[in-house]
Amino acid sequence: MESAPQKREMFYEGKAKKLYTTSDPDLVIQYFKDDATAFNAKKRGTIEDKGVMNNRMSELFFTLLERAGVRTHFVRRLDDREMLCKRLDIVPVETVVRNIVAGSMAKRLGRQEGESLKQPVVEYYYKSDPLDDPLIYPEHAIEFGWATASEIEQIKSLALRVNQVLKRFLDERGVLLVDFKLEFGRHKGEILLGDEICPDTCRFWDKQTRQKLDKDRFRRDLGGVEEAYHEMLRRVES
Ligand code: TMP
Ligand code: ASP
Repeated sequence: MESAPQKREMFYEGKAKKLYTTSDPDLVIQYFKDDATAFNAKKRGTIEDKGVMNNRMSELFFTLLERAGVRTHFVRRLDDREMLCKRLDIVPVETVVRNIVAGSMAKRLGRQEGESLKQPVVEYYYKSDPLDDPLIYPEHAIEFGWATASEIEQIKSLALRVNQVLKRFLDERGVLLVDFKLEFGRHKGEILLGDEICPDTCRFWDKQTRQKLDKDRFRRDLGGVEEAYHEMLRRVES
C-alpha cells in the first residue's frame, strides 16, 4: 500500500467534516465527525459513530461509482474517520436528485411525501449558509459565475448517472433511494464528484416497510437514529 501523505493543518471545518491539507498539495484528508445538524444548524446533536459509518459508506459508494465510470475525489480510506481525497475547487451549488417526493419538495409544492416521480427531478441550490441554501435555476449559477454552462451540463449528467448506479445497487439491497444531495468540484480541469454519500445526504427507505433509514430520524426526532445508520451500512456492505 502506498504511504499516505502527511497530515498538515485544518483549512476548513464544516458541520459534519473537517478538511486538512497534506504534504501533497493535490491531496486533502477529509475527517468525518459525529456532529449532526439540521435546518442550517438550528438543531444540533451527535450521532454516535456517525463519522465512522459515513466514512465507510462513502468509501463503498465512491468505489462503486468509480467502477461505473463516475470520476470522484475519493483516493482511499485511511482509517475509521479519515479518507484521502483529491483537492477540489468546490462549485458552490448543491445538486439534489429526487425519485420520490419528500422533504422540501413535498412542502414547497404541496405534494404528499411518498409520491413516485415518473422521471428523476434534478434541482440546484446555492451553497450559502447566510441565505439558507436557496433553490436556484441553473441559469443563476451561470449568470453569477458559480459554474459555467458546460460545467452545469456535466454536473446534471453525472448526477443522473449517480442516481442510476445507486438506485439499482440499493434496490438489490431492499432500499429505495428517495433523494440525495451531491457536491462537485474542479480538479486539474476536470469536474469530480466530491463531499460524501451517506444517510446524512440521502434519503433511504426500506422497500417493504418504507421505514426511514437516514438522517430524517434525527431531523424529525423519530428515534432509532444510530440503529438506522448501522442497518444501512450493513445492507451496503452485503
Ligand atoms: P430536502 O428535501 O430537505 O431539500 O433534501 C433533499 C436531499 O438533500 C435529502 O436527501 C437530504 C439532502 N440534504 C443535504 O444533504 N444537506 C442539506 O443541507 C439539506 C437541506 C438536504
Ligand atoms: N446541512 C443541514 C444543516 O445545515 C442539515 C440537513 O438537514 O441535512 O444543518
